[in-house]
Amino acid sequence: MNFQNELKKRTNEAEEVIRKYLPKEEGFSRNMVQAMNYSMLAGGKRLRPILMKETYELFGGEGREIEPFMAGMEMIHTHSLIHDDLPAIDNDDYRRGRLTTHKVYGEAMGILSGAALLNYAYEVMFCAFSLTDKKEQVIHGLRIMSDKTGIYGMLGGQSVDVENDGKPLTREMLDYIYENKTSALIEAAMMTGAVLGGADEKEVEIVRKAAGKIGLAFQIQDDILDVTSTKEELGKPVHSDERNNKVTYVSLFGIDEAVRQVRQLSQEAIGLLESLSKKNEFLCMLIQELVSRRK
Ligand code: IPE
Ligand code: IPE
Ligand code: MG
Ligand code: MG
Ligand code: MG
Repeated sequence: MNFQNELKKRTNEAEEVIRKYLPKEEGFSRNMVQAMNYSMLAGGKRLRPILMKETYELFGGEGREIEPFMAGMEMIHTHSLIHDDLPAIDNDDYRRGRLTTHKVYGEAMGILSGAALLNYAYEVMFCAFSLTDKKEQVIHGLRIMSDKTGIYGMLGGQSVDVENDGKPLTREMLDYIYENKTSALIEAAMMTGAVLGGADEKEVEIVRKAAGKIGLAFQIQDDILDVTSTKEELGKPVHSDERNNKVTYVSLFGIDEAVRQVRQLSQEAIGLLESLSKKNEFLCMLIQELVSRRK
């Protein structure tokens, strides 16, 4: 398998699905909708929708109800990025290779378009009911998405992250932050894919564990790139963590140990997925490739 070609194919597929569900720029509120689409179309890696679709297929899913969930997933993720970049949070000026939403549309529209994307995600995901007879699975997927985004997920993590800038952190708090601000949305993607694909409870639990590790590895690699990359390569500012006085795996353990942890967590995640009776070779390769990602 030519991994790069396969990844490109899947990224284009995800891109197409996402575009299909974007809101229309019309009426008096079109400025806010333009701000929403500005960040949605800035070209992220689309990792979470891809992970969702691959996990769906791992369990034999082959319908179209996955599509609104893929689009909704990327909307929730993009909402988290728009708000993460706001002056009150990380105060960053670049994202996905362009000026951040609040830099172009102003802070008020940054706040509103972020909130509107979070809400629109659910408007879109409700469309799944008309694309399948499996109503119970759609409800289960919606419940996972809402849990993992909120207090017991991404937003919980972001709140503890931002209020501890410049403060010493216990290992327990650091892990809470990573497991929630980043792993929770990766868990949402893969667990929802599993549920819609027909996985049973035990299988969903294995997927949750694997996704938690992938998310942790992903955030540690993000912290490494914040120190070792460039704005051009990354599409967002480097040294953002240092500027915000963040405690990270890198500041706490050093680069070498952080690199080792990314490798180990990814290996453990692949091991968990290989313990399932089903196989998805591309999914395992993707997790392996994320270890050495440069953006
Ligand atoms: C950035 O996520 C935020 C983190 C959780 C580290 P991505 O690195 O997936 O960002 P995009 O979607 O590719 O822009
Ligand atoms: C990202 O943490 C977590 C979320 C956006 C939910 P970071 O603050 O490290 O992400 P980047 O580096 O700005 O993408
Ligand atoms: Mg942040
Ligand atoms: Mg940030
Ligand atoms: Mg970062």
